[in-house]
Amino acid sequence: MATILTGGTVVTAADCYQAEVRIEGEKVVAIGQDVFQPGDHHIDVEGCFLFPGGIDPHTHFDLPVGDIKTADDFVSGTRAAAVGGTTTVIDFATQNKGESLATALFNWHEKARGQSYIDYGFHLAISEVTKDVLEEMTTLISKEGVSSVKLYMAYKNILQVDDGALLKVLKLAKKAGLLVCVHCENGDVIDVLVNEAQNKGQIEPRYHPLTRPIAIEREATGRAICLAELADAPLYIVHVSSGAALEMVEQARLKGFPVYAETCPQYLLLDDSYYETSDFSGAKYVLSPPLRPVSNQKALWAGLDSSSVATVGSDHCSFNLKGQKEKGLKDFSQIPNGGPGVENRFGLLYTYGVANGKINLNQFVALTSTNAAKLFGLFPRKGTIAVGSDADLVVWDPTVQEVITAKKQMQQVDYNLYEGFCQQGKARHVFLRGQHLVKEGILQEEGPAGSYLRRTSYCEGRDGSV
Ligand code: URP
Ligand code: ZN
Ligand code: ZN
Repeated sequence: MATILTGGTVVTAADCYQAEVRIEGEKVVAIGQDVFQPGDHHIDVEGCFLFPGGIDPHTHFDLPVGDIKTADDFVSGTRAAAVGGTTTVIDFATQNKGESLATALFNWHEKARGQSYIDYGFHLAISEVTKDVLEEMTTLISKEGVSSVKLYMAYKNILQVDDGALLKVLKLAKKAGLLVCVHCENGDVIDVLVNEAQNKGQIEPRYHPLTRPIAIEREATGRAICLAELADAPLYIVHVSSGAALEMVEQARLKGFPVYAETCPQYLLLDDSYYETSDFSGAKYVLSPPLRPVSNQKALWAGLDSSSVATVGSDHCSFNLKGQKEKGLKDFSQIPNGGPGVENRFGLLYTYGVANGKINLNQFVALTSTNAAKLFGLFPRKGTIAVGSDADLVVWDPTVQEVITAKKQMQQVDYNLYEGFCQQGKARHVFLRGQHLVKEGILQEEGPAGSYLRRTSYCEGRDGSV
């Protein structure tokens, strides 16, 4: 039986128009007027927008960090994503030192298989660049369906790689058709600044941003861009937090280099005053790069509008304040880095972007779905509403108003970064490959039905508009 959505406004990265959408099986099979046939299941979505399901290109579910792991796994993380309007995540399968890439991927498949409520893919986060690892990279797309890797320029002695390794990976990625994602902060300098702070007895969370200043994000961003230029390889900078780092991206793009920036709601909406608490609660905001002085928000919003920012990811990496963040009660550098956000990314960007008049509906779709689909080899199966595309649809009711609070969230973590923020609009229905996953705002308890997504090279399916 087909499902027909009537009365809604279809929004893609390019268009906005009134039409009926017909879903058969897993696909959108018709868009237009009078696509209704006798026997069809009909849902009236009058007054709502029909958006392509959100694609969050940056999550860390079930990630071990030292002797703990993130509060959200694939079950809780993807349930939260679904109710918020996200139908695909690309999570970071993270290689432990000494491990092959195949083992890292095997581990992440084990974590996600049969657990995910939405579709998922993996980036490969490489912590050790060896000859074998470089060899494995050559077949990542054909064997594993993984078309992006991530390298960290920070987290010294844990995940950080040096410039030589970064260059080698960029060169090989260019040949293999992989997109390299980079965490741009200078880990060596952070290490020195953290040691200095510790020696002065500066232990509170408010020293986190002071030991990771904007200059070291700007410097690392510029360095990564230089190396990508040398390797003639495209580059995706994750979680750009400051106007200065974004300027490096803008300069590169002006020269025609394929450099893509991702930012996150926390950098668009929160600022470094959140660290200024008399108690330990500032630890909730210990994420990297840190929250910045409020003036940076203007630059980032302008980047969304001018397309110098390609995507908005959540960087969902949740740790409970109680028991987990508290590992850093006596030393801010021991606070596990990261915060939750997969549930709120879509709604926050709609509220503070579209409803506030900072971006239009097409830009919203590009930033929350289409551009990630193009860059990470999922387009046009995902990232748009078109005949033949997966029926991943969000029926967004723009009239609903809610207040974000941890008490009501699906994320399995004991706080919300946006506690007390208003949200304008809500995902009334969410479809995942035609399955009615969220009905009238309620997740349907039919079990995890998400599939692993084999992805193609970022070049394929890319139309140059990102
Ligand atoms: O603080 C953060 N962002 N933690 C997650 C890991 C990363 O750097 O992306
Ligand atoms: Zn990072
Ligand atoms: Zn991250």
